[in-house]
Amino acid sequence: MSGDSSLPCHVAIIMDGNGRWARQRRLPRIAGHRAGAKNIRRVVKAFANYGVKYLTLFAFSTENWSRPQKEIHGLVRLLSNSIDEEAKALHKANIKLRHIGKLDRLSVELRRRVKSATELTKDNTRMTLCLAFDYGSRSEIVDAVRCIKEGNVSPEGINETIFSSYLGTADIPDPDLIIRTGGEIRLSNFLLWQAAYSELYFTPVLWPDFNKKEIEKALLDYRQRQRRFGNL
Ligand code: IPE
Ligand code: IPE
Ligand code: MG
Repeated sequence: MSGDSSLPCHVAIIMDGNGRWARQRRLPRIAGHRAGAKNIRRVVKAFANYGVKYLTLFAFSTENWSRPQKEIHGLVRLLSNSIDEEAKALHKANIKLRHIGKLDRLSVELRRRVKSATELTKDNTRMTLCLAFDYGSRSEIVDAVRCIKEGNVSPEGINETIFSSYLGTADIPDPDLIIRTGGEIRLSNFLLWQAAYSELYFTPVLWPDFNKKEIEKALLDYRQRQRRFGNL
């Protein structure tokens, strides 16, 4: 935990609203995704400067595979076009990159590049940036159950701490604050287990427009929250 409890140790963001951002400008949806991807660098920098230790970004959900092929291709291409360069920039900034979700639906080449980006940055200490790509919370939970079963863990040996260690987010503290941009008030299969006691912040601001001022607003709002964890 960060020493300053008014600052969240872990912020997780559902980066929604790229398509609407593009539509407002009469641009193709992929232009919104491009603007959204560009915003990631800005947001990572801002949270790192605040001293937030973990930042998780929801970039592509297991359900997003149901979108038109053209959009899926565009989104995967955005990741593959930026991963190498972004990894270098993160490394320079002493930020560790981690991936949660599935890799097996990506090409062998992209899988290799994601792995090499996480490998390059694995010893960095300033902040952990966790990229949720092909991530779905239910699938993460089902996979954890499968691993526990395969590992022959005794029923008595299972508890909440052990269970958490089988999730993609093992070793990452639960998010203190979950932000969703784009105006929808739902979690869309994001960190369902981990969000048990997260503070939720919803803003109508579309992801490409979520800037430093909006981050400050979210953090100020978080500071006003009284977290009780069931206690008084
Ligand atoms: C979020 O933006 C990015 C992904 C889900 C990949 P959307 O593409 O969902 O944008 P809207 O919700 O249609 O505006
Ligand atoms: C959630 O956004 C997933 C990501 C931001 C990656 P969606 O746009 O997919 O969510 P729904 O479909 O509106 O719930
Ligand atoms: Mg959306």
